[in-house]
Amino acid sequence: MASDRLTVVVLAAGQGTRMRSSLPKVLHAVAGRSLLGHVLAAVAPCEPSDVLVVVGHGREQVTEQLAQIAPLAVPVVQEPQNGTGHAVRIALDALPDADGTVVVLPGDAPLLRTATVEALLAAHRSSGAAATLLTATVPDPAGYGRIVRDAAGGVTAIVEHRDADDAVLAIDEINAAMYAFDAAALRAALAGLTTDNAQGEEYLTDVIGAFVRDGLAVHAVVADAVDSEGVNDRAQLARAGAVLRDRVVAAAMREGVTVVDPATTWLDVTVVLEPDAVIEPFTQLRGSTTVGAGAVVGPYTRLTDCTVGAGAAVLSSIGEGADIGEGADIGPYAYLRPGTVIGRRAKVGTYVETKNARIGDDTKVPHLSYVGDAEIGERTNIGAATIFVNYDGVSKSRSVVGDDVRVGADNMLVAPLRIGDGAYTAAGSVLTEDVPAGAMGVARARQRNIDGWVERKRAGTRSAESARLAREAAGTAPSTTDSDPDQQQPQGDAQ
Ligand code: UD1
Ligand code: CA
Repeated sequence: MASDRLTVVVLAAGQGTRMRSSLPKVLHAVAGRSLLGHVLAAVAPCEPSDVLVVVGHGREQVTEQLAQIAPLAVPVVQEPQNGTGHAVRIALDALPDADGTVVVLPGDAPLLRTATVEALLAAHRSSGAAATLLTATVPDPAGYGRIVRDAAGGVTAIVEHRDADDAVLAIDEINAAMYAFDAAALRAALAGLTTDNAQGEEYLTDVIGAFVRDGLAVHAVVADAVDSEGVNDRAQLARAGAVLRDRVVAAAMREGVTVVDPATTWLDVTVVLEPDAVIEPFTQLRGSTTVGAGAVVGPYTRLTDCTVGAGAAVLSSIGEGADIGEGADIGPYAYLRPGTVIGRRAKVGTYVETKNARIGDDTKVPHLSYVGDAEIGERTNIGAATIFVNYDGVSKSRSVVGDDVRVGADNMLVAPLRIGDGAYTAAGSVLTEDVPAGAMGVARARQRNIDGWVERKRAGTRSAESARLAREAAGTAPSTTDSDPDQQQPQGDAQ
């Protein structure tokens, strides 16, 4: 009985010259995964026994990413890169005992779907052919290998564009470069490849012609052309991103998510949205972000690795690594940085930045504040323009604010600082010492008014004239002496 062992070889050694990038082509990302990551994710559900990734150009970077995203995949170095046939030969040399089926996939085809790989495998297993290839009919076949068929419709060869004559160039069925092979037959044919072609390389595609000559069965599956679309330049990268966006958004809508404007909603494939979440236009959800039922995210929002609780609202805001509680109200224009944990029904409002901060249930930080390295209890209100001063130029310190606290507007909370439960603080305070529970903390200079200052010191101005009129209306004489004992003049005048 034939082995049902499945080996997957992903070709990712090429340079990707047309990307004009310092980053290896297969590491360019769309919809939250690298091109290579998409291919590996598509094939993973087929449960291969082994996954070999042929690396060459930028192999340190590619190998490093593989270790993170697919630690069981084995990188195989191809040096020099002498063609797709050479690449597969080297890969199989690294796994001498592999039998059964070998699936070969390009590393730059992020639109490949699991269903398409499964269809390829099913056709291959049911036909018992030595090779089964995916083909597609495309409006512009330029650059691709063409599928040559005989009068009975059987595949006889794949001819590369650069090796093709006019008759072959007229064929619009192309080789998708996705194949299933009988392992033993593939090994034998790879050993016989030559470099006798326009590119002087060992072509994997020549294996097909060799099989036909040897009387081995070759089967073709015509697939949706989109699945095999490779990425060779930045324009194709953007197009692949748009196709993935449409797929992910369509899947979300099928699951009961309202996406108001699919064209401006960008969801990574890794994002999880619960039914009845609403995504407003111009919104990008990335990484491990999850959005709970009934939450409204956007418009104009980008969340990376965030959790949005059920019923929360996030408007025109940026979040990274933040946990937003159920029913919380975020934005407009909030910036939630890593380590932010926002409680249920809490509010983080306009021009508020948070970092490494826990904000308790029903607590409000409504306007113009920075909350860094802080812990705030429940039902507390942080006045507008309050800054948690967490950094002394050398090290960061933490502040703790209790439950039911009222921090006045424009406070500086110089960490480390504790404000006890139920305390109040006065507006404009620079707090450097703890405020005990229930106390009113006041930390600012007492106000003084210097009578008649403007008429004396700013004579001839509109302000002095208005001051005179106001004084005469009140029936008071001009003040001649300075009532301020320090004789100190205020610095600068407000214009
Ligand atoms: C290949 C096919 C062509 C098919 C097309 C589909 C061959 C000879 N041709 O052409 O029939 O229509 O894909 O896109 O196979 N690679 C290596 N090592 C190498 C050379 C390439 O790993 O030595 C990798 C590349 O990184 C890439 C893949 O193999 O991921 C395909 O190579 P590429 O040079 O792009 O082949 P095409 O000319 O596109
Ligand atoms: Ca290619």
